[in-house]
Formats: sequence, C-alpha cells, structure tokens
Amino acid sequence: MDLGIDLGTTHTVVASADRGNFPVMSFPDQDGDSHDHIPSLTALVDGELVHGFAAAEALSQGHPGIRSVKRALASPSVTFSTPVHIGETTLPIGELLASYLGHVAGQIRLNGIQGQLRAVIGVPAHAHTGQRFVTMEAFKAAGFAVLGMMNEPSAAGLEYSLRQSRTLNSRRTRVIIYDLGGGTFDASLVDLSGTTGEVIDSVGLNDLGGDDFDQVLAGLVAGRVNGPLPGQDALLEVCRLAKEGVRPQSRNVLVDLPDQTVRIPVADFETACQPLVDRSLAVMEPLSRLLQCDPAASDIAGIDMVGGGTALPLVSRRIRSLFGRRVHRSPSPTGSTAIGLAIAADPTSPHSVRDRLSRGFGVFRETNWGQQVAFDVLADQSLRLDSPVTITRRYRSRHNVGVYRFVEFSRTDADGTPRGDLTPFAQIVVPLDAALQDAAGRAVDASQVRAVENGHQVQESYIIDPSGMVSATITDIDTGWAVTTTMGRDRPVVSN
Ligand SMILES: Nc1ncnc2c1ncn2[C@@H]1O[C@H](COP(=O)(O)OP(=O)(O)OP(=O)(O)O)[C@@H](O)[C@H]1O
Ligand SMILES: [Mg+2]
Repeated sequence: MDLGIDLGTTHTVVASADRGNFPVMSFPDQDGDSHDHIPSLTALVDGELVHGFAAAEALSQGHPGIRSVKRALASPSVTFSTPVHIGETTLPIGELLASYLGHVAGQIRLNGIQGQLRAVIGVPAHAHTGQRFVTMEAFKAAGFAVLGMMNEPSAAGLEYSLRQSRTLNSRRTRVIIYDLGGGTFDASLVDLSGTTGEVIDSVGLNDLGGDDFDQVLAGLVAGRVNGPLPGQDALLEVCRLAKEGVRPQSRNVLVDLPDQTVRIPVADFETACQPLVDRSLAVMEPLSRLLQCDPAASDIAGIDMVGGGTALPLVSRRIRSLFGRRVHRSPSPTGSTAIGLAIAADPTSPHSVRDRLSRGFGVFRETNWGQQVAFDVLADQSLRLDSPVTITRRYRSRHNVGVYRFVEFSRTDADGTPRGDLTPFAQIVVPLDAALQDAAGRAVDASQVRAVENGHQVQESYIIDPSGMVSATITDIDTGWAVTTTMGRDRPVVSN
C-alpha cells in the first residue's frame, strides 16, 4: 500500500493512494470514536511506552510523557542518539520516534492494510539535515519502506493542484501555501503550471505554531485567576480546547478549569496573539516581494491556508485582509499535507512537485596558512532537487590536517554571504598525512594542524539527495584514505 504520512507536532495524519483517490485514514480513540489523526504523543506507563490516544489518556491521568517529539527533533544538533527524558527514563530520540512510528504502523494495519507499507513522509521545509536523517531512519526502523521525503508545504501544494485546479490558468499558475501547524510555520511559493509543480521559494519558522497561541491564552488565564492553577500541561490542554472552540462570531474564549470557567474576551486574546501572526507575515516578506506587491496584477492563483492553526478566526481574517478573495482554506486543513504526500507516493499519479533546497549549506575552512577563515557556499536555495546532486572539488592541501566546519543557513545575501540563522551541523577533522591516518580510530584533533610545504591532493565530494540530506566525503587522493559523514549521523564512517 502506498501512503502519505504527515508526522505533525500535534497530529499524525495518514492518507492512502487508492485508485486515484487519496482518503485520509481514520483511527479509533480509547472509546472507539474515530478520528482522522493519531495524537503525536508518547507516555510512560509502568515502565512501558504507550503512544497516540492511549498516551493522551495517560498524560491526562498524570503519567509522564512527551508532547512534542517533533519540536525536540528541530534542534540543529539532533542525532539518532540525542537523549530525551520521560519521567525517570532516558532514551535516544531516534528510538523513541521509531517506537511511536511502530504504533502508527500497527494502527494502519488495523485499517485492514496488508503487505509492505510504502510511504512518502513529510518534514518541515526548514528542517535541518539532522532532523531529516533521524526522521527517515526512524520510519525505516519502524518497518516502513520510505519512498521519499518531501517538504510539508510542497506536499500541500500538490494537494492544492488537484483540489483547486480551476483557479489555475495559463496566466495564474502560482500558489502560496500558508501552513500554520501545531509547532511550525511554513510558507512556500509553488508554481503549478502543468502537472509538474515547482517550488520557487520557501520560508518558515521552526518555533511558531498553534501551541504558542495556547501559551498566550494560558498567560491571560494566569493573570486573571486568583488561587491555584492546574499544572502547566493540564492548563495548556484546557487552553488548547478553549482556543479551538473560538468561532468568528465568538465574544469570549471560555477556559474550563477544574473549579471554574474563565472568560477571556476574544478581543483581548486576539490582541495578545497579534505578534504571533505578525511574525508569520514578517517571514513571508520575501515571498510577498515575489508577488510584486500588486495582488491584482500578480500571477498568484491563490493563497492556500492549511494547518490546524489557520482555523483561528484571527489568522484567516488577517490573511484575507492582505490577499483578498484569492485566499482558499482547504476543506481538510489538517489533512492536505498527508494527501499531497499520498499523491506523491502514487506511482500512477501524473502530478508531482519538484523541490528546492530550503536551507543552504557551506563550509568554513582555514585559508592563508591558517591566518584566516573563509566561507564557501556549497549549495543554496536555487539548487533544484529532482535527482541526487553531486558537488566535487579538488585542490592541494596546505595543511597536514583538514578542518571542515559545515553550517546550514536559511538565506544568502545578493553577494552570496550567508545570512539569517546559521547552524553548525558537523565538523570533520581529516588527517592528510599517512602517519596520522595509520592511527585511524584514534581521534585526530584540530590542535594537530600544521602548515606543510607540499600537502596532499584532496577531494571533497558532496551528495545532496532529493530529500535534502547531505553526505560529505573527504578523500586524501595521495593515500586513498577517506571519511564520509551523513549530516545528522552520530559518527563519521571511515574507509580506506
Ligand atoms: N478549530 C481550531 N481553532 C484554532 N486552532 C485549531 C483548531 N483546530 C486545530 N487547531 C490547532 O491547530 C494546531 C494543529 O495543527 P496541525 O494538525 O496542522 O499541526 P501539526 O501538523 O500536528 O503540526 P506541525 O505541522 O507544526 O508539525 C494545534 O495547535 C491546534 O490547537
Ligand atoms: Mg503539519
């Protein structure tokens, strides 16, 4: 069975590819009621991990648990073995995720699905390489055959191209996907002319989502209640429910605490949330510039609002006030990413989207006999990812040890200097001296660097696969010694 799986911060949604249809799967909760998602939750009960609806119940009973594995994954330095703590227990994040995904696989099987589970999986457009790697490995460890990994907004764009094809015409072919989820915000400009879409640009924030609106509401509640409040998790949970109950005509947000109902005027809640919506609009700035300011004259067919966070009336009002009638809200805002992933998984579907690298990467290296540090951009957002891209460079080293500090960045200036958030994601120290290489296994460190007269010939080779993961191989051509690092993996693989 070919599937699209959207591992969300709050909801995991699964769609299947079924003879040209892409239904969202239903999953039963503890009472047997059906939902179109599995809560992305894990709890620890009597030393055992429980997931999904069972975890939601366990958390409400006060068992320890973890609410947002995906937020922990967004840490730039994440690897498969990054520890996470649940109550007294500590385990590697990759294992925790694999265990959760094993539960998801079991629930999919309960839908009567047999045979291999083949899936296209989603990641936030701005996911670091480490997050992509750990997510992919955890899906594999849970028994899925991973057909591909796609940026979430690109998948939502694919779903739009099927659902709203009538808004597209020869002049208007571009769509902005505004995806406000539980923990992340992504916006992408996608060109959907023909059956192959193309992502033009993509921006986002890994730390903005519906959860933050719950926090704001919890702050307002705390300011108004005299006396004890429930614990933080329980308070956030009642605030989430209250927020989800807000309708366009609502005057008050009603927050049910154990012994009272707190009324917060919607106007106060919206004023307090304004900076969150403004943050999303501020990061969209580069896309809006691509719209060339005049929405009437632009070639934008629509603004597609997806993600549960866009259900908040404040959010849709703001977007509509800026972009007018071209704003569309998906009939299943929390399902469109999974549906798009299922379309991508369907071998018979004529529709596809070509992605671009959403984070550039480059390397700092010492130059001028170690006197200065130079930065080389190896790939930036203009790189198209339809098939693996290899970048190779050769030169003669001027040192006995090569020190490569890889970083990811979100944008570059016109002159190619990285700007915006710059995240170190790996450092490789490579001996370029036969004597040091013989001692392989023993660590070489940057303090052993010396300038040499006639250094070895070096080849750097980078492979960026269509899911945006990078592997780097540094080879000492003179001795054949090589080291390979997949960004996000714990330890480099050495070969000779
Ligand atoms: N009716 C509603 N009104 C306001 N917010 C809502 C409503 N329904 C859902 N949400 C919010 O939407 C968010 C979840 O959205 P969604 O399911 O799209 O996120 P996700 O895919 O799990 O997360 P992400 O994409 O960030 O990883 C939660 O913060 C939830 O409270
Ligand atoms: Mg989502």
